Amino acid sequence: MADKAFDTLFQAASAARAHAHVPYSHFPVGAAIRTPDGRIHAGCNVENAAYPQSQCAEATAIGIMVAAGGKAIEEIVVIGGEAGDTLLCTPCGGCRQRIREFARGDTKIHVCGPEGLRMTTTLDALLPHSFGPENLRD
Ligand code: THU
Repeated sequence: MADKAFDTLFQAASAARAHAHVPYSHFPVGAAIRTPDGRIHAGCNVENAAYPQSQCAEATAIGIMVAAGGKAIEEIVVIGGEAGDTLLCTPCGGCRQRIREFARGDTKIHVCGPEGLRMTTTLDALLPHSFGPENLRD
């Protein structure tokens, strides 16, 4: 991916992350999806006083993509953590499956901190031998 394309997706995730509702974890996350038509759909995590009802940033971004008519994830940026730390804010198990619904095995997942890219991986690497829509097709 060209740097400018990454920067655009990163900025969208960063802007969404700034609006994260995280009064419980204090761990804001932003996600931005590029669809094959070039559109970008971004979301943040939205926590809830009833903790299990909280929603990850990836889930928000996917919902926004679907509501806008998007059906495929070309690539996705996730931003979490603090600048300078070395931990990776990879999508949680549930979100890997959510991404699976709309992505290919080689779809790139860019794992970032607020300072920039930390690792690029693929859906297949994060969710091998996965179950997906093809399993339910005739
Ligand atoms: N979270 C995300 O939104 N995405 C991830 O990839 C990892 C975790 C959120 C869930 C919760 O609001 C907070 O980060 C701490 O787990």
